Amino acid sequence: MRKFFVINGPNLNMLGTREVEIYGKMGLPEIEEYTRKVITSHDKTIEQTWFQSNSEEEIINKIHELTKENIEALIINPAAFSHTSVAILDALSILSCPIIEVHLSNTNRREEFRQRKITAKSSTAVIEGMGYKVYALAILSQILK
Ligand code: DQA
Repeated sequence: MRKFFVINGPNLNMLGTREVEIYGKMGLPEIEEYTRKVITSHDKTIEQTWFQSNSEEEIINKIHELTKENIEALIINPAAFSHTSVAILDALSILSCPIIEVHLSNTNRREEFRQRKITAKSSTAVIEGMGYKVYALAILSQILK
């Protein structure tokens, strides 16, 4: 199996009820289900593990655990921590696999403080602004031949 890990940061557990005009009506479990369906239809050997936390510490600890696992890529939506967390950037910098940072919204069209993405300094690529599809697009970006 080819292993992919997906990390979601703070407030993303509230998708579906949270600022739906910006983030859409789908909750995180539905986005996960959609992503699994799309990716499995492309390649049945892809294994996805999804993790969400509102805690910076838990996200950092999870990234540390991933340094010992053989994952093909990490997909991460650090959410607000993207704009604030040097600690998550430092943790991501330990990983040797590709890191795709995703955002549902196009942060470049939003408030100025969202345009600085500290964590993106360690990412291979950033995919944003395409709503719930960004997770599937991020995994596809790694498996398309
Ligand atoms: C977000 C964008 C961030 O600025 C915001 O803090 C989030 C969600 C997105 O997916 O568009 O929580 O990461």
